[in-house]
Amino acid sequence: MQRRGWFITFEGIDGAGKSSHIEAVAEVLRRAGRTVTVTREPGGTKLAEALRALLLHEAMDALTESLVVFAGRRDHLRTVIAPALARGEVVLCDRFTDATFAYQGAGRGFDRGVLSQLERITQSGLQEGVDTLLQPDLTLWFDLPAEVAAERLEGARVPDRFEAQPVEFFRRVAQGYADRESADPGRFARLDAALPREAVRARLMEVLQQRGVAGAAGEGA
Ligand SMILES: Nc1ncnc2c1ncn2[C@@H]1O[C@H](COP(=O)(O)OP(=O)(O)OP(=O)(O)O)[C@@H](O)[C@H]1O
Ligand SMILES: [Mg+2]
Repeated sequence: MQRRGWFITFEGIDGAGKSSHIEAVAEVLRRAGRTVTVTREPGGTKLAEALRALLLHEAMDALTESLVVFAGRRDHLRTVIAPALARGEVVLCDRFTDATFAYQGAGRGFDRGVLSQLERITQSGLQEGVDTLLQPDLTLWFDLPAEVAAERLEGARVPDRFEAQPVEFFRRVAQGYADRESADPGRFARLDAALPREAVRARLMEVLQQRGVAGAAGEGA
């Protein structure tokens, strides 16, 4: 069987703390001897980053938005994520498909059945001769009430098209994440992102230990 690495996604609403912790996780895993790619969605390739710029600044209807997100994801999966996993490496991705269900689905009210179809099409056929759906091995879910996130982000930066949404939108997005977790609880590790940074970090490290990520067998084994 082909060696599979670890595909770990960081999820949660804007301001939950994903970007604050992703590099520290990468460092810990590198020290444990793993090769780590840190990437993000939307984006992660030249094409997908160009699509990201359109997504964040151009108005478009919800289906167009979803198609653009999944188009970028396909390119990212094919050229970056799947090859790294096939080499037995670790991929840390700041947002992935759960974010599409949370933002485009729960936030904007777009048909989640259509999103499921796009998910199936986009995340299949990535390994020759294997037709399974590629999903993250572990999703670190930074769960934070929308009100707390809004306070953290206030004045922190110029809001993009999503960040400019009212708190009610983020309440729906947070619920969208909770729905995804209920549908696939084994994949998710929920982190209480309202705790101080150090506490969140300690909990993150605990999860990585428990799941055997840091202590996993060396690459190419
Ligand atoms: N545990 C914490 N307690 C208080 N503030 C925090 C905590 N974690 C992060 N912050 C602060 O909250 C803000 C948002 O954090 P961060 O950028 O990591 O969130 P994010 O989840 O990456 O958001 P986005 O989805 O918008 O990129 C930053 O100003 C960060 O310093
Ligand atoms: Mg971030």
